[in-house]
Amino acid sequence: MPIVRVEKLYKVFGRRPAEAVRRLETGIDRKELDRGVTAAVIDASFTVERGEIFVVMGLSGSGKSTLLRTLNGLLPATSGRVLVDEQDLTALSPAQVRELRQQRMSMVFQHFALFPHRTVAENVAYGLSVQGAPRERQLSRTAEALELVGLAGWEDRLPGELSGGMRQRVGLARALAADTEILLMDEAFSALDPLIRKEMQDQLLILQRQLGKTIVFITHDLNEAMRLGDRIAMMRDGRIVQVATAQEMLTAPADEYVTKFVRDVDRTRVLTAATVMEPAGVSFTTDTSPAQARETMLGHELTGALVTDGGKFAGSVTRSAVSAAAERGDATLAAAVDREAARTTPETPVADLFGVSASAPAPVAVVDGDGALLGMVTQQSLLRSLSIPEKAEEEVDAHA
Ligand SMILES: Nc1ncnc2c1ncn2[C@@H]1O[C@H](COP(=O)(O)OP(=O)(O)OP(=O)(O)O)[C@@H](O)[C@H]1O
Ligand SMILES: [Mg+2]
Repeated sequence: MPIVRVEKLYKVFGRRPAEAVRRLETGIDRKELDRGVTAAVIDASFTVERGEIFVVMGLSGSGKSTLLRTLNGLLPATSGRVLVDEQDLTALSPAQVRELRQQRMSMVFQHFALFPHRTVAENVAYGLSVQGAPRERQLSRTAEALELVGLAGWEDRLPGELSGGMRQRVGLARALAADTEILLMDEAFSALDPLIRKEMQDQLLILQRQLGKTIVFITHDLNEAMRLGDRIAMMRDGRIVQVATAQEMLTAPADEYVTKFVRDVDRTRVLTAATVMEPAGVSFTTDTSPAQARETMLGHELTGALVTDGGKFAGSVTRSAVSAAAERGDATLAAAVDREAARTTPETPVADLFGVSASAPAPVAVVDGDGALLGMVTQQSLLRSLSIPEKAEEEVDAHA
């Protein structure tokens, strides 16, 4: 069951919003609405799964912050529904919405939103004191949260004494201390220097793995989206044009807009062995006879092939090793197998495979945690992964 479910959500600012929704439902662009009427979110439907990092990505003005504020009920929807744990926010009273927000969601902002005259510890405890948590619990949760973000020992400082990165850690600690299941992060890292930003991204990934929070993370930085997001919702002019994993967005962009958007991403850091691998095709077992293996390799013009043993990856053979075994009169391939042959996990980024593949005489085996052969990565599949999908390319050119 998803933790957040959004159904046909609209948020319109300005006069007669319901009428604007009716017009938008006919498919008109938001630019065609009356002056002074802004459709910030148009017909958004998606779910956020428990424990995932769901990134909302889009250019300035595309509606990201508005969407986030409807998720926690800070902004009421004009039309459509927002359900948190199957509770319909749009059907709750304002007091009930406030309570749900305090209990279930914490927000981390771009500009930290810290109280300048309160200490780090007081800032972190803020959410808990709003929730009315007992003082003991406030203290222990605050200490834990500061420990988690690496700020233990800074309790009594004032925000002004901290660097930008540290202030954002305080913001994050405050959200963690409240111990809500959902974290909403609006451009939380956008004000940070690139190196600090990368550090914060790494830390967020680690924390998320440790704590299993559900995170909705807003950014206009595609590389950040692709690093952090289990799934990414791409927004354009108020509409969600695609919800997909980073890999899917690169290999199967929904339209020309997404294609153009993702064009400059370093594909080799996003795509993984699992995305580019091919079925192992011709593979042998250690019991195969060398003569037969040699014939098969000649027939398929292969210089190397993968070998399994009892369903697990055993290693690879080269054609010359197979020929030598055949000439020796070996009964099986066992002696010809290079047991140290290159292998990789499905999660390995393509960037890390080029070197391995270049020095390997056979395709690189993709192997799961149990040693089973999932597929193989060849030089050709690596090179193919660098190019933009052909269909998308044509569509873009046709519209250029
Ligand atoms: N309270 C409001 N009243 C009127 N219009 C608003 C209001 N809030 C947002 N908008 C408009 O809604 C649209 C979407 O704004 P929103 O802030 O959600 O975009 P965003 O994607 O978060 O942009 P940014 O990347 O600049 O933060 C914009 O055209 C904005 O001007
Ligand atoms: Mg915004």
